[in-house]
Amino acid sequence: MTEKQQVSGSYWLETAPDGRHAPLTEDIEADVAVIGGGIAGLCTAWELTRAGRSVAVLEAGRIAAGVTGHTTAKITALHTLIYDKLRRTRGSEGARLYARSQSEAIEHTAEVVAELGIDCDWERRSAYTFVRDTSRVDELRAEAEAAREAGLPASFVTETGLPFPVAGAVEVTGQAQFHPRKYLLALTRDLIARGGRVFEDTTVLGLDEGEPCRVATATGATVTARDVVVATHYPIFDRALLFTRLSPRRELVVAGPIPADRDPGGMYITPDENTRSVRTAPYGEDGTRRLLVITGEHFTPGTGDTRSRFERLSAWAREHFPEVDLTHSWATQDNDPTDTVPLVGPLHQGARHAYVATGFAGWGMSGGMMAGRLLTAQITGEECEWSGLYDPRRLRPAVREAPSFLATQAKVAKHFVGDRLRPSPPVEALPPGEGAVVRAGGGRLAVYRDDDGTLHAVSARCTHLGCLVDFNAAERAWECPCHGSRFDTDGKVIQGPATRPLEQRDI
Ligand code: FES
Repeated sequence: MTEKQQVSGSYWLETAPDGRHAPLTEDIEADVAVIGGGIAGLCTAWELTRAGRSVAVLEAGRIAAGVTGHTTAKITALHTLIYDKLRRTRGSEGARLYARSQSEAIEHTAEVVAELGIDCDWERRSAYTFVRDTSRVDELRAEAEAAREAGLPASFVTETGLPFPVAGAVEVTGQAQFHPRKYLLALTRDLIARGGRVFEDTTVLGLDEGEPCRVATATGATVTARDVVVATHYPIFDRALLFTRLSPRRELVVAGPIPADRDPGGMYITPDENTRSVRTAPYGEDGTRRLLVITGEHFTPGTGDTRSRFERLSAWAREHFPEVDLTHSWATQDNDPTDTVPLVGPLHQGARHAYVATGFAGWGMSGGMMAGRLLTAQITGEECEWSGLYDPRRLRPAVREAPSFLATQAKVAKHFVGDRLRPSPPVEALPPGEGAVVRAGGGRLAVYRDDDGTLHAVSARCTHLGCLVDFNAAERAWECPCHGSRFDTDGKVIQGPATRPLEQRDI
């Protein structure tokens, strides 16, 4: 990490490396092609393999290394403040199904951990949503009541293990946390032992939804499969225009060891202060220290000063946990659905064999596990009580959803038009490690100067739907504010929905 680049990398990636899986280079057949090797894709692939289906996982980069490799890795059915909203928007039954589906996924995963003997630092903890502002206490009381009514072991409390007073908190007992890569790499080994196939560095470019379906990859090799699951975080195929109902959100993480006796002993989140989330994990051999993981400062990708955000989050961590030695920093990305419920099920109205899992709104661990169970039930023809709750086809502009839907579209339109009117800074003034979008030849170039002073130029036009990217200096990446695609400084896709790199340009 250079002085200017504030991101050291994910602790989960550093402490659970994996060998490479070869790319797909020849045409193959499978019962199911799963596109995307994050938690939703891998859980789906594993469940299907266990159900006797032949499965091929196609991952554009490395498995469990994208959003899943950068998560906070809390596994809980308490999703900040959702149950009071759900019982108003989806009724008491909707809230109950949401709680049951998430809890069932957690308990099922606990069984898988035990059954396969996976060493993944699995720990049971209470989950808390807390506020420090007394004016929000009634909101917390309502959430505790709604979560309890939905079937969770929830209560309103005023005492927590945090090293500062709270005005109130919702506590849900019996939740869990783990090391996401240790779990998923073990699951993948079992998947392969059961006959599943995993291909990395395999970018999918096309989906022909026939009978059978055909998946085309960048190498020219294809997968012919009866069913296809799109589990690429933000869907790369989107006939149903789900992108109009998803809002990308980037969030920062800082972590480092603290003395074990300073462990706050739970998994915490507050919607205040632009979100703060706290958990710990096992650290070191002798048990005297725990890894403190703090998340917060969420923002739309490609907007604003990420370095300052890291500084604010680090300052918060040091203020409240003065003993912490911050050693790691990274960032993660989520997609918020306009009606708060993830989209898991058939890809569009006419889909017969194509499925999607997306919109986990920051709760992708339990959500991804739940998606694996739900999609497997749908593909194998079993009934699942909560299919309707998560059905992506529900997403017609409903009156209740309209304000959030319109706000999402207004934001995209603002970026699409407004970003083209931004002033163009002089390239000569660009310091090493910085990037800027500049006007050139009637278009816009995304120009980055590396530490050696060499300029790298690519088109600033995002290859998804044409918005202009902006530079994230802390992570040295180009980011698109419209739907969250991310590219490295040479234009290579780091994160979709874009599948094609930014075009190379001369400067
Ligand atoms: Fe959609 Fe860039 S991610 S336009």
